[in-house]
Amino acid sequence: MSQLLRGCLLLLAVHAALAQNMRRLGKFEEVFAWKQMTYNINDNLLLSDRFSGDNLADSRVKRQSDGLVFNEEANWQQLSFLESSLPSSQNSWSSLPSANKPRPFSQTRTTTTRRPNTDEAGRFFIQYNNVPMGMERVGNRLFISLPRRRYGIPTTLNYIDLDQNVNTRSPALNPYPDILQGRNLTSVYRTRADECGRLWMVDTGLLELPVNPIQIQPPAIVVFDLNTDSQIFRYQFKSTDIPAANTPTGLASITVDVIGGDCSNTFAYVPDLTTFGIIVFSLRDNDSWRLSHNFFSFNPTAGALNIAGHRFQWSDGIFSITLREPEANGCRTAYFHALVSTQEFAVNTCLLRNRTASSDSNYWQMYSLVGDRGSNSQSTMHGYHQGSQVIFFADIGRDAVSCWKTTTNLDTAHVAILAQDKQRMSYPSDLHVTGDEVWVIANTLPRFGYSRLDTNEYNFYIYRGRVNDLIAGTVCDSSNYMTFG
Ligand SMILES: *[C@@H]1O[C@H](CO)[C@@H](O)[C@H](O)[C@H]1NC(C)=O
Ligand SMILES: *[C@@H]1O[C@H](CO)[C@@H](O)[C@H](O)[C@H]1NC(C)=O
Ligand SMILES: *[C@@H]1O[C@H](CO)[C@@H](O)[C@H](O)[C@H]1NC(C)=O
Repeated sequence: MSQLLRGCLLLLAVHAALAQNMRRLGKFEEVFAWKQMTYNINDNLLLSDRFSGDNLADSRVKRQSDGLVFNEEANWQQLSFLESSLPSSQNSWSSLPSANKPRPFSQTRTTTTRRPNTDEAGRFFIQYNNVPMGMERVGNRLFISLPRRRYGIPTTLNYIDLDQNVNTRSPALNPYPDILQGRNLTSVYRTRADECGRLWMVDTGLLELPVNPIQIQPPAIVVFDLNTDSQIFRYQFKSTDIPAANTPTGLASITVDVIGGDCSNTFAYVPDLTTFGIIVFSLRDNDSWRLSHNFFSFNPTAGALNIAGHRFQWSDGIFSITLREPEANGCRTAYFHALVSTQEFAVNTCLLRNRTASSDSNYWQMYSLVGDRGSNSQSTMHGYHQGSQVIFFADIGRDAVSCWKTTTNLDTAHVAILAQDKQRMSYPSDLHVTGDEVWVIANTLPRFGYSRLDTNEYNFYIYRGRVNDLIAGTVCDSSNYMTFG
């Protein structure tokens, strides 16, 4: 009996030790962390630079693909050739002016650029260049996207099987849906799944090299069926959606709105942070249109940033849109902000969905300022949690994740910081609310852009927190509020 008790106590002690070992940041739990990214492609592990991807595909599939996908030396050049060999009427994209003033990486325009090593051209895997940007958990899969802003990124969209990697700190990425279909996507910043089992993203189509960006294919909305892992459609934006050659560099997120549970009646809202607009896509109409408003611009007084030991100025406009639950008429409040801003704005989705509304003389008045989140609260992505009515923010300006309960005034007093760390929460590049969890990825991006990552240290982190645990005892917790009347 006492032996059993001793056994139990020992087990408890072991559990406590394990729990202590669990890496935490504020109220978040670290799920994964990487010094450098690795890939698992058809059971071949890519642990260091690879010149060719030849032997990574099943030989039968490879033969069918006829070397196009895997002839790495010529791969991008071949694809560009295919693009430029289209008749010019179908190919307005490649004739865009090359005024596309390249930026060292997408979110800056103001530093000197370094000429990329031309040896890198077309190389299959250059480990250092693989910087994860987007992250989203859907069921037992974690999607990780790496926009192609350098050579040597095998696939821009990848996943990690969460069930198979419970005890792995730095799991390898698997191409989504597989290496062949995955190579059809040029460059994806962030994904979002909807309630209909579909995964939405913008493929910017752009190989966003610092000095010489190459528009491989036209920018498009791409949607996958998560049950069959096959592409449902690729909707090419209209030329009126893309006002400038550098607009594709700004299509870094997508927000999906399924109307009344009808999967065939779905809208997507795509912020354009580079040339300041929202592109609205209607699935039912298979059509898109572009909206303008001054609130989509950056705030010139909020552009001086100090991240990861680097001081610089950015000018990114509207970056993230998050939706409240629908009202009785099926429309929702859409909250949005520019990255270079500490203010939050709102507009009703009824307005976004109405393609003629922008000609209404009241159009400009139908957007509103919600409030200011406080100093250094410049934020990439934000996400609304329905049960708590709280929005979570990925704050790059202060290496933090914060929250605000949407039923309170938006001001400094009503915003709580939930986790903050100069190193482990440096540049939280994506934040996603899924079920009752908040997932965050931080990638130290300014250091990659302005100096060099230390590949002996952890550079990329993914965290998870439960909404109730995160907000407990903060101003975002409803139990802190008395109801009025
Ligand atoms: C790649 O895209 C092209 C054009 O959209 C399509 O015809 C082809 O089937 C795709 N290939 C794969 C492997 O998905
Ligand atoms: C959607 O519109 C595009 C032209 O913008 C067309 O090429 C495509 O076939 C259409 N898709 C459907 C499903 O009608
Ligand atoms: C769309 O906007 C126009 C202009 O404001 C308005 O007249 C029309 O009623 C709106 N349509 C819908 C369906 O709300």
